Amino acid sequence: MAPTLFTPLKLGRHTLQHRVVLAPLTRFRSDEKAVVRPFVTEYYAQRATPGGLLVTEATFISPTAGSYPNAPGIYTQEQIAKWKEVTQAVHDKGGVIYLQLWHIGRASHSKFSPNGEQPVSASAIAIQGKNLWGDQQQVPRALEILDIKALVQDYRQAALNAVEAGFDGVEIHAANGYLLDQFINTSSNKRSDIYGGSIENRARFALEVVDAIADAIGPDRTAIRLSPWSGFQDMQDDTPYETWGYIVSQLQAHQPELAYVHFVEPRIDFRSEALPDTTDSLDPFRQIWKGPFISAGGYTIDPKLAFERSDKSGDLIAFGRAFIANPDIVERLRNGWPLNRYNRKTFYTPGAEGYTDYPVYQPEAQPEVPKPSL
Ligand SMILES: Cc1cc2nc3c(=O)[nH]c(=O)nc-3n(C[C@H](O)[C@H](O)[C@H](O)COP(=O)(O)O)c2cc1C
Repeated sequence: MAPTLFTPLKLGRHTLQHRVVLAPLTRFRSDEKAVVRPFVTEYYAQRATPGGLLVTEATFISPTAGSYPNAPGIYTQEQIAKWKEVTQAVHDKGGVIYLQLWHIGRASHSKFSPNGEQPVSASAIAIQGKNLWGDQQQVPRALEILDIKALVQDYRQAALNAVEAGFDGVEIHAANGYLLDQFINTSSNKRSDIYGGSIENRARFALEVVDAIADAIGPDRTAIRLSPWSGFQDMQDDTPYETWGYIVSQLQAHQPELAYVHFVEPRIDFRSEALPDTTDSLDPFRQIWKGPFISAGGYTIDPKLAFERSDKSGDLIAFGRAFIANPDIVERLRNGWPLNRYNRKTFYTPGAEGYTDYPVYQPEAQPEVPKPSL
C-alpha cells in the first residue's frame, strides 16, 4: 500500500498527487524594487512536481508592510509581471503554487519604510535585541482601528494581485511573530480595544483578513499559517491551546471551505539542528479542522516523521530546509534516496549559490547507502 504521503488529496481547486509541500522560505533574492529576479523562476520550477503544492517565500502586501531589502512584493505591476513568470513555469510542470502574504509589523525598522516611519504593531512593545541587519529593534506605534481596517484592505488587494499573477491561491502569514501573530499573542498585544484582551479580540484581525480575502478570491483559494508555539521574535501566549483552538474553531465554523490550514509544529526551532523535546501537540487543532491540514517543522531533521505523520492523520507535510537543499525531494522521498545536506550560510545570500545549484539525485554519483526503512 502506498504511504499516505504519496496519495492524492483535494485541496482548494486542485487535486494534489502527493502531500509533500514546499514550506514558505524567505531567501532575499529579489531586486531593489522587490521584484523577483529571473533565477527565482528557475528555483521554483526546479521544485515543482505534477500535483505538488509549493508555497512561496513571504511576500509584502504593500510598500509599508515592512520592506526588508531583497524580499519580494505583490503590490506593483512590475512585481506582478515577474511573479507571472514564476507561476507559469510551475504550472508548465503541473505544479500548484500559493503566495504567502506578509506584513512584518514591529519586526520592521524605520530605515526600511518608504518615508522612515516607525514600525507598527498591536502595542508599543519592541522585540528584544537586534534584527538580521544588526539594528536595534524599535518600539513600534500601536495601530489605530482605522489603520487596521485599511490593512485588511491591503491584504485583500494583495490577494487579488496574486490571482492576477497566476497564483492558485494565497497563504496568509499569521505565524512566527509577524504582524498578525503580534496581535494574537499575549506577549505583544496589550490593547484594551476590540483588538486586544480576550482571545476573541486578539484573533479578530487575522480572522478579518481571512474573511476579506475569502470574499475577494474565494475561500478555496485562501489559506492561513499559524504557529502556536513559535518563540521567535519574543512570541509567547498565555493559553496556546485555547487561543489557537478558538481560531481554528472559528475557521471551521465560518470558513470551512478554506484551501487548507498550515500549522508549525511545537517541536521546531528552524534555527536549530535538533528536535527539542516537548509534550505539546497540534492534535487538538487537527481534531477541530476538517479540511486539508499542513504540518511543518522538523521533517527536515527526521524525514521518516513525515511518513508517520501523514499515515497517522492524513496531513500534508511541508519541508523547509530539506527542500532548499533537495529540489527533487519528492522523488527522493518516494524512492528512499538520501538527501543533500543544506548549507545555512547561503540561506539569505544574493547569488545562485545555495539557491539553484543543489544537485538532483544521481544514482551513479551516490555512495551505496542502505535504503532507510520508512
Ligand atoms: C531560510 C528560511 C526562511 C524561512 N522563511 C519563512 C517564510 O518566509 N515564511 C514562513 O512562514 N516561514 C519561514 N520559515 C520557516 C519554514 O517555513 C519552516 O517552518 C521551518 O524551516 C521548519 O521546517 P524544516 O524543519 O523542514 O526546515 C523559514 C525558514 C528558513 C530556514
